[in-house]
Amino acid sequence: MPFDALLKPIRIGRMELANRIAMAPMTVDYGNDDETPSERQIAYYSERAKWKPGLISLEVCSVDPEHRYQLHSLGLHSDFQIDGHRKLVDSIHAHGVKVQPQISHPGPESIAPFVRQIQPLGPSVIRTETTQQACREMTMEDIERVIEMYGDGALRAREAGYDGIELHAAHSYMMLGSFLSPLRNFRTDVYAGKKFEGRAKFMLDVLANIRSKVGEAFPITVRISGFERQPGGREIDDSQRLAPLLVDAGVDCFHVSGGVGDGNITQIITGPDYQPGYNLSSARSIRQVVDVPVMVVGQNMDPNFAERMVQEGEADIVAMGRAFLADPELPRKIRDDQTDEIIPCTLCQGCVDIMQTEFNGAGCVVNPRAGKEREYPIEPASEAKKVVVVGGGPGGLASAIYAAERGHSVTLFEREKQLGGRFRFASTVFPGNQKHLDWLLKTIERLGVEVCTEQEVDRAALEQLRPDAVILAAGGRYEWPELEGDALPHVVTGLSVMDLLDQLCDQAANETPLSLDVGEKVVVIGGNLIGVELSEHLGRLGKRVSLLETGRRFAMPAGKKRRGDHASRLDAAGVSVNTGVEVKGILPEGVVIAGSTPDDRIIEADTVIVVGQPVADPAWVERFEGAAQQIYSVGDLGGFGLSLKSVRDAIEVAYSI
Ligand SMILES: Cc1cc2nc3c(=O)[nH]c(=O)nc-3n(C[C@H](O)[C@H](O)[C@H](O)COP(=O)(O)O)c2cc1C
Ligand code: SF4
Repeated sequence: MPFDALLKPIRIGRMELANRIAMAPMTVDYGNDDETPSERQIAYYSERAKWKPGLISLEVCSVDPEHRYQLHSLGLHSDFQIDGHRKLVDSIHAHGVKVQPQISHPGPESIAPFVRQIQPLGPSVIRTETTQQACREMTMEDIERVIEMYGDGALRAREAGYDGIELHAAHSYMMLGSFLSPLRNFRTDVYAGKKFEGRAKFMLDVLANIRSKVGEAFPITVRISGFERQPGGREIDDSQRLAPLLVDAGVDCFHVSGGVGDGNITQIITGPDYQPGYNLSSARSIRQVVDVPVMVVGQNMDPNFAERMVQEGEADIVAMGRAFLADPELPRKIRDDQTDEIIPCTLCQGCVDIMQTEFNGAGCVVNPRAGKEREYPIEPASEAKKVVVVGGGPGGLASAIYAAERGHSVTLFEREKQLGGRFRFASTVFPGNQKHLDWLLKTIERLGVEVCTEQEVDRAALEQLRPDAVILAAGGRYEWPELEGDALPHVVTGLSVMDLLDQLCDQAANETPLSLDVGEKVVVIGGNLIGVELSEHLGRLGKRVSLLETGRRFAMPAGKKRRGDHASRLDAAGVSVNTGVEVKGILPEGVVIAGSTPDDRIIEADTVIVVGQPVADPAWVERFEGAAQQIYSVGDLGGFGLSLKSVRDAIEVAYSI
């Protein structure tokens, strides 16, 4: 079997896992107001358990009733919560899968200031990046109380039927991670941060309390940052010294993560700037000093890579987080050697941005079913229909897939030679998008969608086809700002920008030379996502790019985390970014802007690119009114959005047919 090592059973203490694929803890924020698991959450986890990973490590469960981690995260701090957890556990056990909650005290990361108007607790006074709040230093009484809470929380976990617990001590955050790290523990008492013994003591006290309550046999995993990747933080030798002590204190498994928590959690939930398996060397180092299993997390999404890690004895269990948001069926596809069917996580950071901007829990850009398992079950529609999709961008491709999955017969028309639409450029710039596009293309083929390229469909042609439903996904109408001087020969504006994007795709794919002349000094006017990605790309090609945006923020409508990634990429590509800029016009030598000083300034340019964006095109949709019983439009045709909007529209429409 190709994934022999990954599919081999293993034990964590007395807990027997059927394979070595673990779902990493992810706070999806679907919980009830009282921090018990909601029906939505149960459906989300059951769907992941159904495909039988060896283990599900559940998200953060707070042990303190006064301190929750997120508005709708989970708790195991009160007895009334046990029944709700038991229901969740039963739904996972129904599929024969082991599950453990992540026992945690949010510590400095508590959102108590917002929901209870009380200060978070921590080893020392620290201002937390994520909440921008300061915690207070715990007294000895606080410490004793919190230690008891950990033990009680673990006991409730056992009573709810969990197979073990994962104790969260990673990332130099929350309570255990903060006590453990010299970056956050400035105490001078027995828990003193400067001394290894002092930093380790809180953890050992917590473990002793847990063991005294749950007994010797209940499996305990500890999640730890092998290496904090921060000047002054814990290094791997510290973890190597700590790990055997923790085993002596009753730890049955290590779950090795890395880094510290910053405002954008960049080292925990990473973008493509990190390498696959970026925590593996730490895991290997810890594995060298203990005899219990070591699990590793962090961009282990490629099953072949994961297999190799286990096969070569670098880690015992491979934890994957986002891969399970993107595709719950991942373990089944590994087992059946159908890995090319796995919906790939693109590392786009959308899951976090969705949570932070929509306040309705995590979602996934490549899998709009994540968190909506009850709304969109994969099952046939009551009646199979004939569906025509017009447009082969991500919205059209996704519509075709979801409709075909439901048993409809689908034909897709695209006026260009190639499928992908504007997403082709996004794929040239960001490799994750290319993976998504490849998956979309492979999947329409696998599902037998009939694809007609280089075919424009008008109303008459559509009526002849006599479809039951039509999904219009032709993209919006492209609009751009008009500026003084934009007719000058060195200005690329209007639809020529789209042409330029296409040419850049061809250049990247086939080294086809550009017919549009782009000079060395480029000014891009318009910092929406198109402008940002274009600037990144041109910067990487060696151009000296200045990006000008009139609004205060660039890369809109992306969320904070993805914007953070773009900021790093623009920086790495040498692009200078100016926001809040008034562009007054274009001259042969450059772009005139009103700066913060009284005088106008000129930013020199050999080439100026004026970027617009798609807007809703109701007139285009009206042309097809009445051409079929059901007509829908998806994606940019209804207004500019990310591919997230397209795939969400697509699944909603596919389930309306
Ligand atoms: C939406 C989301 C929520 C997360 N919540 C938690 C959490 O509650 N506890 C934790 O230790 N890690 C959490 N993580 C981090 C993951 O467990 C994992 O370490 C990280 O995503 C890197 O693994 P991956 O590259 O396989 O996604 C979260 C990650 C995501 C994407
Ligand atoms: S939203 Fe993006 S980063 Fe998050 S799981 Fe989905 S594909 Fe991966």
